[in-house]
Amino acid sequence: FTYKLLTRHRSYFRRLRVPFERPHFLYGNLDDVLSGKLTTMEKIEQFYRKFASHGCCAALIDFIASRAELELEVKAIFLKHTLNMFAGIAFGKELNTFQDDTDRFCAVASGMAYGTNPVQVIKTMAFYLAPGLMRSIGVQFTDRQEIDYLVKQFHSTASDSSTNSMGRFLKQANDKLKTSQQLSDEQLTAQCAIFFTKGFEPTLNLLSFAAYELAQNLHVQQKLYDELTTNGLTNGSAGLTPYERIRSLPYLDAIVQETLRKWPPHPLLVRECTKPFIIAATENGDRASIPLKVGDKLYLSVWAMHRNGDYFPQPEQFRPERFEDGQVAKVAHSNTFIPFGIGRGCVGQQFVKLVVKLTLVALVQRFKLQPGERTPEPLKLIESASSLEARDGFWIRMEPRVA
Ligand code: HEM
Repeated sequence: FTYKLLTRHRSYFRRLRVPFERPHFLYGNLDDVLSGKLTTMEKIEQFYRKFASHGCCAALIDFIASRAELELEVKAIFLKHTLNMFAGIAFGKELNTFQDDTDRFCAVASGMAYGTNPVQVIKTMAFYLAPGLMRSIGVQFTDRQEIDYLVKQFHSTASDSSTNSMGRFLKQANDKLKTSQQLSDEQLTAQCAIFFTKGFEPTLNLLSFAAYELAQNLHVQQKLYDELTTNGLTNGSAGLTPYERIRSLPYLDAIVQETLRKWPPHPLLVRECTKPFIIAATENGDRASIPLKVGDKLYLSVWAMHRNGDYFPQPEQFRPERFEDGQVAKVAHSNTFIPFGIGRGCVGQQFVKLVVKLTLVALVQRFKLQPGERTPEPLKLIESASSLEARDGFWIRMEPRVA
């Protein structure tokens, strides 16, 4: 619902004066607008250095190593890992949830990501259905105490020159603007919070499904390990793997793409019609024309498209090879593979790929991911869930690799 709310008229960023064009890393074009220059790759580099200096995946690997050989439900583990990373990147908050998850930030962030609080769920639905009414009667979308808490977090890191957080980048860019154009601290904090509401759950799902597929498809995992070997990346610890090398691993990239195809974290896209339009009847008469009027909602099933055998032969199979050497482009029209949406699309896609690739490399370097007794095959989803939820969890055995 939060997603639908923000993208209802696709005007959320426009209201924040962000031009409607191809997005860039993390916060769309906001940074470009504020700072007047494109620094996408530099920003990714800076975040990468931040991961590296904190041993990005070290806490995750240590945690798993202390439980190696046991069968683990990896989504619960990735949840802690993702929370650590997102808290650091968005708010510069140093968390190690593997050791302590009682920090208030964990509760606030989970609330933002999942909206599990029933009052918040009702509010979100009400805002979706009647936003004007809710505003006119003065209902605030987010809990006031939580906003104050987050703004405080934002303040403490955005002005601290030793942190490299998204909050700090935004603050720096904002300070360069004329006072009349500047965003308020609350608006800047909201940008950091969006990171959780939009990115946390799909990132967590992507990681979980990717690990599941690697455990189920040992030949794929071996091919990835071979790719790491060829690139001198197998004996790395959980520490720094050179950024340039992560980016130039085609098979790793294909694994991420294939996971996004088979298990699209956003299986449904929504659009609202802004001009009257007629979808023409099919030539063979199977379907009559469909007139659309302004305000009609269109739901597009990404799931059905990605599982359509005409575009992706044997769609139930996990075959990263279909994304190697541009193979998919030969069989499928580009708009049939849309895990990050169409048009403006997702602004976090470069970032999320980086995070997921780093994590997968760190895992495969150290462990052989194996199916265990509780690993479901085939993996069943909870049908009533609003996003992809595995019914029986993601159980995997992590066998340490012999050095
Ligand atoms: C695997 C992870 C992710 C997937 C599959 C994903 C997918 C999507 C999709 C399908 C959309 C809708 C695009 C459309 O309607 O055409 C979207 C929008 C968006 N995503 Fe992501 N996303 C992911 C991670 C992230 C992350 C980490 C961030 C954090 C920066 C993020 C930020 C956003 C934002 C801000 C939008 C709204 C853009 C707009 O309305 O213009 N996403 N994402």
